[in-house]
Amino acid sequence: MISTDTVDETVRVELGSRSYDILIGRGLMARAGTELAARLPGVRAAIVTDEHVARHHAQALSDALASAGIASTTIAITPGEKSKSFASLESVVDGVLEARLERGDVVIALGGGVVGDLAGFAAGIVRRGMKFVQMPTSLLAQVDSSVGGKTGINTARGKNLVGVFQQPSLVLADTDVLDTLPEREFRAGYAEVAKYGLIDRPDFFSWLEANWQEVFAGGAARIQAIAESCRAKAEVVARDEFETGDRALLNLGHTFGHALEAATGYDSARLVHGEGVAIGMALAHRFSSRMNLCSMDDAHRVEAHLAKVGLPVAIADIAGDLPDAERLLDYIAQDKKVSRGALTFILTRGVGRSFVANDVPASEVLAFLREILDR
Ligand code: GLY
Repeated sequence: MISTDTVDETVRVELGSRSYDILIGRGLMARAGTELAARLPGVRAAIVTDEHVARHHAQALSDALASAGIASTTIAITPGEKSKSFASLESVVDGVLEARLERGDVVIALGGGVVGDLAGFAAGIVRRGMKFVQMPTSLLAQVDSSVGGKTGINTARGKNLVGVFQQPSLVLADTDVLDTLPEREFRAGYAEVAKYGLIDRPDFFSWLEANWQEVFAGGAARIQAIAESCRAKAEVVARDEFETGDRALLNLGHTFGHALEAATGYDSARLVHGEGVAIGMALAHRFSSRMNLCSMDDAHRVEAHLAKVGLPVAIADIAGDLPDAERLLDYIAQDKKVSRGALTFILTRGVGRSFVANDVPASEVLAFLREILDR
């Protein structure tokens, strides 16, 4: 299914007049100016990044843009989820306006999911919408958050509650920048790669089982895994850009995962997002088996692969105390709309056969949580 001899990959996101390419390959940072100038001639740019990523890559990007005649200014925010705030949004918007950029100019998000969400939101609202380019620097951002146009910030009432859909004009995923990621962060991003196999690409999941070590090592297999993930996401987004149906499939593992993130107080020493998704996907398969939708062999197969790459797969894998089943269900209910005691979950009929279930009884989820917490 997947060749390993390709070096660069292009994935097209088909959204009519808002269609765009995702370029995946090595050394794209150095080629960014040429790629941008070819697609957006005559633009000036604001590079929105965080202070950590800026130290490693901002100068290289600014030089690459300058070599293609694109003038740029750099706006660096404080790293971390706290920057998805109204205050940071205001400072990014101010920075773009201070640089006197126009509607036809471009905001470039250089960083992980936080930078992409914040910069994309700013691009969506400054001068009623500027051009936007994503240059994701984490695996999670390369395979998920940089694709599909979701942007936004958090408020005291919850995560991602304020934002806009703002599709980029281009995504440049330079796989070389992943070489410097801490192993734990790369592994957490890998959970989202495996997710695409589990949603509707059973052959991809089998390929990952056989090739995950090469994906971690870098090179052609890594590029192929990222490209296949982007293809999977692009297909779902093309079917349901504004999440009225199928796009919810991308939340496989996220309902349990978000509840666990909330239950650990978003303490990244205990659990990061991708780790929560890994446990969530393992639980979604176990729960589906309990509901007689898939076999326990499928659930064991998923757990075996995730555990092999070093991801947590059970609530017991999280260090420290955790709330009881009732409290976890409260966290799940907060994250979801509950309609007459029923919850929406992504469940599965087997590896690569996930579906949106809108009518999962909260009582079944509670019984399941009690069972697994007792084990
Ligand atoms: N990360 C889920 C989505 O883009 O819909």
